[in-house]
Amino acid sequence: MKQVSPITIVQLTDMHLFASEQQQLLGIPTTDSFHTVIERLKEFREELDLLLLTGDLSGDGTAQSYGNLQNLMSSLFLPSYWLPGNHDDFAIMSEMLNLGLVSRRKCFERGGWNFILLDSSVAGKEHGYLRRETLEWLDLQLSTIVDKPTAIAIHHPPFKVNSRWLDKSSLQNSEEFLAILDKYPQVRLVLFGHIHQEFYTQRRGVDYLGTPSTCVQFQPGSNKFALDRKTPGFRLMKLYPNGTWESWVERVPYYFHAVFAANGY
Ligand SMILES: [Fe+2]
Repeated sequence: MKQVSPITIVQLTDMHLFASEQQQLLGIPTTDSFHTVIERLKEFREELDLLLLTGDLSGDGTAQSYGNLQNLMSSLFLPSYWLPGNHDDFAIMSEMLNLGLVSRRKCFERGGWNFILLDSSVAGKEHGYLRRETLEWLDLQLSTIVDKPTAIAIHHPPFKVNSRWLDKSSLQNSEEFLAILDKYPQVRLVLFGHIHQEFYTQRRGVDYLGTPSTCVQFQPGSNKFALDRKTPGFRLMKLYPNGTWESWVERVPYYFHAVFAANGY
């Protein structure tokens, strides 16, 4: 039987980089923890095909923070695609993150899969919302390419994750989003960030995957803001052209003295 090889995708999320490389988020120097993740990725660089960055790449929305990101990622020499989160500045990102192997395209095909990246950010708000034009664009993309397994990426989770404080800032119009996905059986995967923890659920044949941050981790199942002692991480995915996939979360051995308080997030 002919062996069909998969493409290997890395999902990096919620890096919260700042203009200053020394600045910390809740006690963790985010540039340093992200650097540790990049070094780990270099160890299996030969297997990797693509980076997918799913929002909150910056913690302060500055051009300098995106410059830092571009510098750190460039050492991997991998095609990279991104979408914004609630801490990002979309206009500045679009200007800065569109150089060399980093693309601002939001729909592309690779390895027999179709990828669609959505902007769920709302200016000045923590929560997510898909605007009318974004929903219409999603519908159009899905109706245009129906014969390829499709992965959708979005910053905010379209489900509650059993954590009262975090669930207040999930995607506010999930019903509209899910109603579109229900029309297109080629949709296999939805990837998101924002929750700084691993998460998995399934709905109507679609798998939904949440991924740890490359900096601080939130405590799963907590009603109030709480940090988890788990170390920074990222997600690896092998996507096969027949629509099947494998995925797992990797963590890096990065230890720090977290500030266990909500101030600053
Ligand atoms: Fe977020």
